[in-house]
Amino acid sequence: MSKKRLLTGDRPTGKLHLGHYVGSIENRVRLQDEYECYFLIADLHLLTTKNQRENIDEIRVLAIDMVTDYLACGVDPLKSAIYLQSAMHAVYEMNLIFEMLVTVPRLSRLPSLKDMAKAAHLNEMPFGLLGYPVLQAADILMPRAHLVPVGKDNEAHVEITREIARRFNHLYGETLPIPDVMIGDVPSLVGTDGQAKMSKSLGNAILLSDDTKTVEKKVHAMYTDPKRIRADIPGTVEGNPVFIYHDAFNPNKSEVEDLKARYKEGRVGDVEVKDKLSKAINNFLDPIRERRSDIEADKGLAEQVLYEGTIRTTEIANETLAMMKKAMGLTGLHNKISRKARARQRKIEKAGTN
Ligand code: TRP
Repeated sequence: MSKKRLLTGDRPTGKLHLGHYVGSIENRVRLQDEYECYFLIADLHLLTTKNQRENIDEIRVLAIDMVTDYLACGVDPLKSAIYLQSAMHAVYEMNLIFEMLVTVPRLSRLPSLKDMAKAAHLNEMPFGLLGYPVLQAADILMPRAHLVPVGKDNEAHVEITREIARRFNHLYGETLPIPDVMIGDVPSLVGTDGQAKMSKSLGNAILLSDDTKTVEKKVHAMYTDPKRIRADIPGTVEGNPVFIYHDAFNPNKSEVEDLKARYKEGRVGDVEVKDKLSKAINNFLDPIRERRSDIEADKGLAEQVLYEGTIRTTEIANETLAMMKKAMGLTGLHNKISRKARARQRKIEKAGTN
């Protein structure tokens, strides 16, 4: 029996951090054998909030950084396809078809879109940003994915995808699977400053590409229990970022329990808690660092991986689009005319190059 398919990805906004890892990357790497995996670099989604020429020029470097991060985390390009969203032509067509299957009020109610508009200092909602989850549905349904591992913030978008797929099937017959969402172990990781979410733009992130010294520095500057001005004052463990990180990254559970117990009784200094935490995070990052240095030594590797993944994905994308058009009856005249028009265009191009 053929494997079920999994799709997920990220906007190329910069280097990945620990929050991405526990929110979704960990699941992706783990599920590579069980599922046929597709990982997209969502550069079209980036345009929904950042469409200036400088932003677009940056994508080249950011996309390659992201591929490098994926590979360093253990994504295996022989098993999984990593592809560039903007190179997947079928997705633009699917996006338009799906736009007819969801209402404006449904999209307008999503808090995630309002948050993104606010973060990008947009006073009014751009049409394309309102359509963000629709484009995401096109990504997910493109390989007819069964599973979508994402962070908590994307859960509502996968719900929109499910609604769109059901609507499509209802109108045109069973064509698309209804994908399941999978939320990571730590659905949303707090920032080093104690803010709800780790984010590079908030400056509260530990990057997967940070070196040992940088991790030590960031951990030592971390926000802890503000009421504990001396080591002998009992502190609060619950919701305390240093202990949330200990739980997520320190595999030595008895050490963590001991630190927590002594913290609650005012019998441990912040320095010890943080020293042990930065050691744990550095141990966790070491194998990622090792793979990264191998990948970076092989110039052009990340771009080649992206290119090959894009070619592989194009095949299934075209297949799904053809299935959708057939189900919709967008075949007869549509196919005949577009085929003829394409053939004519090729003829003109050929004549031009001669
Ligand atoms: N919305 C995701 C983000 O927050 C990126 C993304 C685009 C995505 N298309 C997707 C995630 C499809 C999962 C599936 O960056």
